Amino acid sequence: MKKRIEELRSEFHKRLEEISDKRALNDLRVAYLGKKGEVSALLKGMKDLSNEAKKEAGAIINTLKKDVESAIKSYFITLEQEELYERLQKEWYDITWPEKTSVGSIHLLETAMRNLERLFTSMGFDVLNGPEMEDEEYNFTLLNIPDDHPARDTQDTFWLSNGKLLRTHTSPVQLRGMLEHKPPFKFVAPGRTYRNEAIDATHEHSFHQLEGMVVDKNITVANLIFTLKQIISYIFENDVEVRLRPSYFPFVEPGFEMDFQCQICHGKGCKVCKKTGWVEYLGCGMIHPNVLRNGGIDPDVYSGFAFGGGVERLIMMKYSIDDIRHFTAGDIRFLSQF
Ligand code: PHE
Repeated sequence: MKKRIEELRSEFHKRLEEISDKRALNDLRVAYLGKKGEVSALLKGMKDLSNEAKKEAGAIINTLKKDVESAIKSYFITLEQEELYERLQKEWYDITWPEKTSVGSIHLLETAMRNLERLFTSMGFDVLNGPEMEDEEYNFTLLNIPDDHPARDTQDTFWLSNGKLLRTHTSPVQLRGMLEHKPPFKFVAPGRTYRNEAIDATHEHSFHQLEGMVVDKNITVANLIFTLKQIISYIFENDVEVRLRPSYFPFVEPGFEMDFQCQICHGKGCKVCKKTGWVEYLGCGMIHPNVLRNGGIDPDVYSGFAFGGGVERLIMMKYSIDDIRHFTAGDIRFLSQF
């Protein structure tokens, strides 16, 4: 029996040397220490021995068992370390390497719209939404622009097969607002607008406007001027001069165009303001009595002002952006600057 045990011991060490992974190591462990393994077989084989011989054999078998166990245990640790070392070779990561991740950001137009909304809500205005696919009535007729009115020609748009159109301005929301709310009220309506335009550096077929409107008793042009000055000063983070020039929009009376002092040359005159020191910005005026009436409001009791202007133009001026097409071109070199 002693001889058999010594054979098993040297056979075990030989097999152990050939093993290079944990699974094979486990197989070897089962072959020696498992229920049907070599050590169990040895123990079973002891039953015919004399008591004296049993004692001696038992001790040797136990030593073998312990040796096998500890050899397997330490070899297991060696294999684990080898595995780890191999992984570290393959998966190394240089923490000194400069990280270059690109994180997206909110589009500058969206930021500007949100900022404008924040400004107006802080002044007590509500924010209204209107449909981009608009009825002819709201876009023109109810705004005092009947079918045969030449003002329609200045706002050519995309007509849809269902008889509707893509709104040419945010002014239709004036009527939607008036019909849904009782005065006094003040609201703004930011959103996308469309025109059938020849596209160039300052004209796009889709752009954004912000409409504003206040209806109450005793509203005057002074209230209008104050509000407009607030917007421009907020956008340019500066106390900006504004001025009104008489102009014509069928839905206001009197109607104006508002200019603000050029923020490039601060009124001295430059290329951007065509040497005038002023930049034409938006249309505005006191809401025409006909429009108030169309919105269910009595013009003998209430008055109001309205204004509407392009958002892109304001941002272009603020950041000296020379082409409106940059907004939608999706060029990351442009977008990542904001
Ligand atoms: N809707 C006009 C435009 O797009 C601007 C405007 C709005 C004028 C409100 C007067 C009052 O040109």
